[in-house]
Amino acid sequence: MPHDAAATSEDTTRRYYDTADVDAFYDAVWGGEDIHTGIYRGPREPVADASRRTVEQAADKVADLLTADSLALDLGSGYGGATRRLAERFGCRVTALNLSESQNRRHRARNAERGLDRLIEVVTGSFHAIPYPDRHFDLVWSQEAFCHSGDRTRLLREAVRVLKPRGALVFTDVMAAEDAPADALRPAVARLGVDTLATPGFYRRALRDLGLAHVDFDDRSEHLVHHYVRVTEETRRRERDLRGTISGAYVDGLLANLPLWVAAARAGRLRWGIFRCTY
Ligand SMILES: C[S@@+](CC[C@H](N)C(=O)[O-])C[C@H]1O[C@@H](n2cnc3c(N)ncnc32)[C@H](O)[C@@H]1O
Repeated sequence: MPHDAAATSEDTTRRYYDTADVDAFYDAVWGGEDIHTGIYRGPREPVADASRRTVEQAADKVADLLTADSLALDLGSGYGGATRRLAERFGCRVTALNLSESQNRRHRARNAERGLDRLIEVVTGSFHAIPYPDRHFDLVWSQEAFCHSGDRTRLLREAVRVLKPRGALVFTDVMAAEDAPADALRPAVARLGVDTLATPGFYRRALRDLGLAHVDFDDRSEHLVHHYVRVTEETRRRERDLRGTISGAYVDGLLANLPLWVAAARAGRLRWGIFRCTY
């Protein structure tokens, strides 16, 4: 049977996010709403506040596009922080497509608590095979999910396929610098269950090949060091609590892995920012 890199990455991702340890870690350290890189105002800012700012600044980029009649799709929606914000801010309907059923259960419960369940549909599935027709959505959105893909060309093809001709694809992702040696990043990246990260150049080329003439990358890589330092500090500060709810092996793994991300960011080997892409 041919090796299917997309399916392998889906299995790894499902196993990763569907464990109680990972669920408890993201809840404790990120605040359980958003799980992506933050945009920081200061060195002591909580990860959750900075992560919220990222959603707001990415959403600013589609303020001219979305109305209450719009349909948006959030790929790899996690606990649904951005999904809810898009629905709340623009009054639009949002479909959240995500692999992890345990995240999706939590996501649906929060939507109901916030009275947003009438605008949001949470669907379990993969962005490698998006279960919607061509040209269906005004906005295709994603944050820190494409990094988990074992076949990014396929996922981008799917994301662009479901986009309306006047729509926009907006996403953030943690990426490698163009000149970063893959071997140097592999130990850090292993936690995501993939071999390599994309680069900004890869996204530009792949999206242009798919017909998106305007690929704008707002490079905010300067926030990466700060972000991984804050997440590492927070994990260390909460270590005792975390060991009460999360297995010791998982906490040990995190405390070994997170400094690798700090070092990679300090060495200039990572990139991060907000893409806005249109036809
Ligand atoms: C780092 S979390 C980000 C969650 C959310 N976007 C956020 O920013 O808070 C990565 C998410 O990608 C999802 N994911 C990874 N691979 C996926 C796939 N093939 N299809 C759908 N979701 C996927 C995971 O389930 C997880 O929710």
